[in-house]
Amino acid sequence: MRLRHKPWAKEYMEAQEHVFIQHPEQLKGKWGTEFGNDDPLFIEVGSGKGQFVLGMAKQHPNVNFIAIELFESVAVSIVQKLVETPMSNVRVLTVDAKRLVDYFEAGEVDRVYLNFSDPWPKSRHAKRRLTYKTFLATYEAILPKAGEIHFKTDNRGLFEYSLQSMSQYGMFFTEISLDLHVNEPEDNIRTEYEERFSALGQPIYRMEAVFRPKN
Ligand SMILES: C[S@@+](CC[C@H](N)C(=O)[O-])C[C@H]1O[C@@H](n2cnc3c(N)ncnc32)[C@H](O)[C@@H]1O
Repeated sequence: MRLRHKPWAKEYMEAQEHVFIQHPEQLKGKWGTEFGNDDPLFIEVGSGKGQFVLGMAKQHPNVNFIAIELFESVAVSIVQKLVETPMSNVRVLTVDAKRLVDYFEAGEVDRVYLNFSDPWPKSRHAKRRLTYKTFLATYEAILPKAGEIHFKTDNRGLFEYSLQSMSQYGMFFTEISLDLHVNEPEDNIRTEYEERFSALGQPIYRMEAVFRPKN
C-alpha cells in the first residue's frame, strides 16, 4: 500500500463518529449496541482503502462489518466513501491487529477476513505476517469455537506459509483455490490489490480455514 501522508486524516475521521470508532476498547463486548442489532460481526484485518469491506457490506446488509486498518492515511479513504454513501453496517478502526483482544470479547467476532496481507518475505520478519501463530491465537481468542478465517493473496510464498502455519496451529481447510479467477464465484468481491494483480495475469490464491475446537 503506497502511503501518502495525510495530516488532515485524523481530524477528518474523528468528526465522523458514526463511522470511525476512536475508542474501540470502550465497545469491547458491546458491538451489538453500537450497530443497534445482534447481526453477525465480520472483521477484515488490513482493509486498505476498503473496496472489499464496503462491497461485502452492500452484498450482506444483515451482517455488521468492521474494517481494521493500521494507517490513518489509508483508512481515511474508507471513511470518505462512507460519508459519500452511508452504510449503517460498517465501522472503521485504525488499530493494530495484534491488539484485537483489547477491542473484542471472546466469541464476539463471527469471521475474520485477511486480504492481500503484507507478505514480509524475509524469514527474519515472519512474526509480522498476519498468519503467524501469535496472530492466529489472537483471532482464535475473539472468534467462536470453529471460527473461520477467509484469506486471499496473490503471493504464492505467503499462501504456502499460511497453509503451513495454520495447519501447524491445528486449523483445517474447507476451501482452497490456486486460481480463484478461473471460475470466479459470482459473489466474489475483489479487493483493490486483487484487481491490480489479476490484471497483471497473476493467479489469486484463496482459502477458508477453520479453528479446531479445543476441549
Ligand atoms: C497490501 S495491503 C492490502 C489492502 C487490501 N486488503 C487489498 O487487498 O487491497 C495490506 C494492508 O494491511 C494493513 N496492515 C498491515 N499490518 C496490519 C496490522 N497489524 N493491523 C492492521 N492493519 C495492518 C496495511 O496498512 C495495508 O493497508
